[in-house]
Amino acid sequence: MSRCQYTLPILPMEETPLKKLLSILMLAITVVTFAMQPAFAADIANGAKVFSANCAACHMGGNNVVMANKTLKKDALEQFGMYSADAIQNQVKNGKNAMPAFGGRLSDSEIADVAAYVLDQAAKGWAG
Ligand code: HEC
Repeated sequence: MSRCQYTLPILPMEETPLKKLLSILMLAITVVTFAMQPAFAADIANGAKVFSANCAACHMGGNNVVMANKTLKKDALEQFGMYSADAIQNQVKNGKNAMPAFGGRLSDSEIADVAAYVLDQAAKGWAG
């Protein structure tokens, strides 16, 4: 009889701190996850700087002064299988025909940033 009386009020008391701990843990995980995202996401603003310093000479406004059909516009990128961050990063790193390789000159993160910038501009129609 006395056992029942003690057990009942204790149970919810034991549950509450555990639930609190769990929700704090979940919150902490959420905060950490959100805080870490910008570190992984490509920086489009930096990509714009990389682009004007390294790419604009040939690709001003998303065009191509060397090979007129190989523009950085969405249609052309899709047509030539270049409408993805992977494909662009790969070509920027290794070059292709008259396009020089930037692997030795730009870091991986600069290449990721400039690829993100190209895709962003392509989606916006290079309107600026
Ligand atoms: C010296 C001129 C030159 C420079 C500088 C240059 N490119 Fe290119 N780019 C080209 C040429 C030429 C091609 C076409 C290559 C081919 O397919 O033969 C091309 C193609 C591309 C393509 C594929 C376009 C398509 O429609 O298939 C992308 C994306 C691209 N360049 C991005 C960049 C980026 C980003 C930079 C700067 C880091 C850059 N390029 C710098 C000349 C250049």
